[in-house]
Amino acid sequence: MTSSRTDFPAPSGSEWWRDAVIYQVYPRSFKDSNGDGMGDLGGVTEKLPYLKQLGVDAVWLSPFYLSPQHDAGYDVADYRTVDPRFGSLEDFDRMREEAHRLGLKIIVDLVPNHTSEDHEWFRAALAAGPGSPERERYMFREGTGENGELPPNNWKSLFGGRAWTRVPDGQWYLHLFDSTQPDLNWENPEVWEEFRAILRFWLDRGADGFRVDVAHGMIKADGLPDWDEQVHMVEGTDSADDAAAATHPTPGEDPEGPGKTMDTGPYFDQDGVHEIYRDWNRVLREYPGERMLVVEAWVGPAPRLARYVREDEAQQAFNFDFLVAGWHRDRMRDTIETSLRANSEVGAPCTWVLSNHDTVRHSSRYGLSSRTAYPNGIGAQDEQPHPGQGLRRARAAALVELSLPGSAYVYQGDELGLPEHTELPDAARQDPTFHRTAGAELGRDGARVPLPWSPVGEGLGFGPAPWLPQPESFHEITVDHQLGDPQSTLSLYRRALRLRHELGLGATGFAWHPLSDEDQGVLAYVLPREDGDVMVAANLGDAPATVAELSTGELLLASGQDAVVGDTLSVDSAVWLKL
Ligand code: BGC
Repeated sequence: MTSSRTDFPAPSGSEWWRDAVIYQVYPRSFKDSNGDGMGDLGGVTEKLPYLKQLGVDAVWLSPFYLSPQHDAGYDVADYRTVDPRFGSLEDFDRMREEAHRLGLKIIVDLVPNHTSEDHEWFRAALAAGPGSPERERYMFREGTGENGELPPNNWKSLFGGRAWTRVPDGQWYLHLFDSTQPDLNWENPEVWEEFRAILRFWLDRGADGFRVDVAHGMIKADGLPDWDEQVHMVEGTDSADDAAAATHPTPGEDPEGPGKTMDTGPYFDQDGVHEIYRDWNRVLREYPGERMLVVEAWVGPAPRLARYVREDEAQQAFNFDFLVAGWHRDRMRDTIETSLRANSEVGAPCTWVLSNHDTVRHSSRYGLSSRTAYPNGIGAQDEQPHPGQGLRRARAAALVELSLPGSAYVYQGDELGLPEHTELPDAARQDPTFHRTAGAELGRDGARVPLPWSPVGEGLGFGPAPWLPQPESFHEITVDHQLGDPQSTLSLYRRALRLRHELGLGATGFAWHPLSDEDQGVLAYVLPREDGDVMVAANLGDAPATVAELSTGELLLASGQDAVVGDTLSVDSAVWLKL
């Protein structure tokens, strides 16, 4: 079995995170245990047995810390307090204890690039005035222009508009995101000390790891030089309060490939940021039990991203190239190849991720006419995803994602094939992106709708009056409904995760199958195992494809009942075969 591409040996190391399946809980939308319309830690604890039965190894929780919630908790006012909306520290302890009892690891979110404007440090900075040590914790600067009336440079916020806001005494502060999210000054040793202490606080409380928000953003280029080439802005005005655009790349269909979607401005991916990960790596090593960091770094190409997972830095980095590759054979193949190659050079596992709380759900993206569509939200006026096609592809993509060597991330609802809510009424939308662009950008609410647990019960079992309304289509795809259906997407995920565990997938080597270079649109590879190789084939082409091994191998798992017809693999289908 030969291919022009490189094959990869099984990665070394046996730490749990190297091949873990990690489930992202978005707390406000997972399960509401106290009936206030918003999910909470009590709800997570209640549903841990569900996650155990699903077969995941770890749970990552998006922020549940004290926050005014201007950016759904990614604006932290106190890193050591649970927001009362989500519960209390005691609720966290109960959840962690129960997770550990069930053998599930807990990963918490860390937001080090910025705080909330409500953080006591920022309040103190405003009160103390220019030149004070309090201001030195943030990025305050004098303005330009005759009277300092112009911002210090031309940087734009990732939410649009200026990245600078002026305070009454005339100074300006930097905010790469919303004006309520001031950037911290990582040139200040006090900031380093504070984040070491925050890490230790949660490590002492039993957290097994951290997901690091905007992990490539903390260090800014010397002198904060102007930058004119932001790749994913919608036009904003010069007013910070008019800020516009998306948190993340909105490339639509990018013929150049996903690498182009990464913002390479002087505020991202600076060499100095790696010193922070070396520092945190040392903190994690003070603790037993293989604690880990997974970085959210929208950095490319793959060798550049691999620098974050060198031996003395973070353990994992989200593979966003894979997420934006779309349902496109060549892009997926090239991303798998370049990711495996780059990470094997630094001895780190790859991660595979299809959706998260910032992206349109892949079962809807895959249902759009462009195979590589990557919109920033979908509204009722936009092209509506084809539900059948989107779900069919999402099921096939799951069999690719969950078989590849390394660690896989499942965003809550992926396991249900949950679609994006594409008809949210404007009045319900909460993403600041939507409001700050006067609706020009729909934003991320459609991917954040509370989960449907059961056809009976308020909010489809989520709880009464969910903070975002659930679409009609959720009624047919609740957890309870899917548990009783052996052909459901939930049943497919459960089987795939059980088999993955039994067969040791995630920890195997990898060899391309020659079909991946042919023009039928098939992605195929072999996972070498002592006890019999496993072959994975997915048809991303436009016609049924001949796969000889369908006749000779043993069918372990298929993405749908009609995936295999004789020795052909149906369109938008995938299989696992034992050779
Ligand atoms: C988070 C977003 C958030 C942004 C600012 C991201 O990368 O995932 O949800 O809006 O950081 O904190």
